[in-house]
Amino acid sequence: MPLIEISHLYKTYTVGSNRIDALNDVSLKIGENEMVAVIGPSGSGKSTLMNIIGCLDTASAGSYRLKGQEIGEYDDNALSEIRNRTIGFVFQKFNLLSKLSALENVELPLIYQGVGGKERTERAQEALRMVELQDRMDHTPFELSGGQQQRVAIARAIVTNPPLLLADEPTGNLDSRTGTEVLKILHRLNDEGRTIVLITHDSGVAAQAQRMIHINDGKIISDRKGGAE
Ligand SMILES: Nc1ncnc2c1ncn2[C@@H]1O[C@H](COP(=O)(O)OP(=O)(O)OP(=O)(O)O)[C@@H](O)[C@H]1O
Ligand SMILES: [Mg+2]
Repeated sequence: MPLIEISHLYKTYTVGSNRIDALNDVSLKIGENEMVAVIGPSGSGKSTLMNIIGCLDTASAGSYRLKGQEIGEYDDNALSEIRNRTIGFVFQKFNLLSKLSALENVELPLIYQGVGGKERTERAQEALRMVELQDRMDHTPFELSGGQQQRVAIARAIVTNPPLLLADEPTGNLDSRTGTEVLKILHRLNDEGRTIVLITHDSGVAAQAQRMIHINDGKIISDRKGGAE
């Protein structure tokens, strides 16, 4: 059973008298332990697809199964449950809370899961060690570089140990050297068994994944293996 199974998915927005087919008959399967890059120009539907895969939004029509479960059948509470258990998110703009330290930011998802006390701190410390930030745990986001902030965001995404990691332009705000470091971490997390869906409009970044899906105008125009591995 694939981890992600999408068939004939549509997402339509209506703004005024304009109808926008942000996703237009998208079908794809992603297996466990895959690393997939989704590439396409601005406005092609990448974030729309990721928001649906991440259970942050639902489709207008079609089917999305995550671990065999049909997502369209769940209400908001059930969806946030599934999200908490299954998915870690990394965004272009890091989305860290500026008043909290790196450690406190990484502890947040554990607070939502009801993990308390010493276990929570230890797991957050361990996640920060995995992104090599053990010596920056007490820094607030303003006291960290862009690449370090993104690594905190990755630690926050993996602290609950989700099988699926979704990254929407994780290197979009970083210079190329820092971006390469962040990608290296994503590759390592994939080697350790996590499924990774990486959205980018940078073909150099996409080429590093084992599989590249091209999307244009809400449609998949190619889906092929390749890249560095
Ligand atoms: N909430 C919304 N309401 C109306 N239209 C939307 C909404 N969200 C996205 N769209 C439209 O859907 C299309 C796809 O948007 P999406 O954000 O998925 O693009 P993208 O590929 O992520 O682009 P970018 O590379 O610029 O982030 C665009 O034409 C956009 O204008
Ligand atoms: Mg986008």
